[in-house]
Amino acid sequence: MVGEVEKRGMRLGKYELGRTLGEGNFAKVKYACHLDSGLEFAIKIFDKKKMLDLKISDQIKREIGTLKLLKHPNVVRLHEVLASKTKIYMVLEYVNGGELFDRIASKGRLGEAEGRRLFQQLIDGVSYCHDKGVFHRDLKPENVLVDAKGNIKISDFGLSALPQHFRDDGLLHTTCGSPNYVAPEVLTNRGYDGAMSDLWSCGVILFVILTGYLPFDDRNLAVLYQKIFKGDVQMPEWLSPRAKNLIKRMLDPNPQTRVSMAEIKSDEWFNQDYVPTNPYDEEENIFIDAEAFSMQGVTVETEKDPGSPTLINAFQLIGMSSCLDLSGFFEKEEASERKIRFTSNHSPKQLLEKIEDIVTEMGLRVQKRNGKLKVMQENKGHKRPGSLSVAAEVFEISKSLYVVELRKAYGDPLLYRQLCSKLSNELGVREEILAAQV
Ligand code: ADE
Repeated sequence: MVGEVEKRGMRLGKYELGRTLGEGNFAKVKYACHLDSGLEFAIKIFDKKKMLDLKISDQIKREIGTLKLLKHPNVVRLHEVLASKTKIYMVLEYVNGGELFDRIASKGRLGEAEGRRLFQQLIDGVSYCHDKGVFHRDLKPENVLVDAKGNIKISDFGLSALPQHFRDDGLLHTTCGSPNYVAPEVLTNRGYDGAMSDLWSCGVILFVILTGYLPFDDRNLAVLYQKIFKGDVQMPEWLSPRAKNLIKRMLDPNPQTRVSMAEIKSDEWFNQDYVPTNPYDEEENIFIDAEAFSMQGVTVETEKDPGSPTLINAFQLIGMSSCLDLSGFFEKEEASERKIRFTSNHSPKQLLEKIEDIVTEMGLRVQKRNGKLKVMQENKGHKRPGSLSVAAEVFEISKSLYVVELRKAYGDPLLYRQLCSKLSNELGVREEILAAQV
């Protein structure tokens, strides 16, 4: 089918696609060359079916709208948005120096002067977006790129509706990826201030830049959560007192007392040799603005199937296909959809009992072994639709706070989703209670 798989050398409107630059849960990023100008771009490719399945297409539309507002040298620029029948393509500024953290991983930590220069750029980009009312909510190493001149470019700003943030069903309120960069108030599922949680993540990034390792890390998830909730960070002795002080203030687990953007900008360590990066002149963008942000239908040509018909506007398509039969929901589910976590105040014993009750009520079978639960619905031993095998595990975070992790081994995605929804609704901690606890 046209546009199903983007191959190297494939044409996409006026672009020729090249190698894959990155691949995430929802999107793939490909190198692209604009045929008329020879300019380089990175094209982020979203699968519409997945967006529809997760009911996030409206959010994506809104967020793409906000992305067009962002024009800053330290933020990856969105040039235009294209669409085919099955995909949405975001044509982005190409950043050719790779991820900041690959650099740190290969060269080791940066000295304070060089680290500060990059951190100042990170803060300039983040601060600019915050001033426009756009929060990242998922700042992590993969999103901090470096250009040929060694300058920071933040990617994925404004795409916070993606993966872990679909929250309208009581599910997946916490991140399924590595929580190392995530602020405590985000992990505990409290309503949170996007600006303050971004600043926490910037604090983690600053620590990694200056030390070469993570401030919060543990193979045991419960221990990792505890360290994050306590802001329990061991500063190496050789860091300057001023750098330590700023990191400590950024990694304050209480978002209300955490250092603000204005305070970071007036911090002594931050301010040394600080030359703020100015946003691009509006003047410079007049030409691009004229056409850049319309959603254009494109023809995608594969080697096998050139000259396929021109396709319609992506938003029209999203609208049209919202009446699609969603019975295939989660058919090609991502690893992140197989594992969910929620926080709870019930003790492990109560949790395991209650999970057993809920699961039994749903007509599923439970096996208990070594403090773990296995939920089964098997049809004569065959892995048929309707079958389900799920493991549930409880981690203690503090005396009255636990994380329940559900992992699906195999089985019906819809049934699994129902199960997760029921368990997190009935056992998950309510936000107002959590706010008083953490
Ligand atoms: N990987 C993800 N986004 C990218 C971009 N804009 N440029 C280069 N590599 C990327």
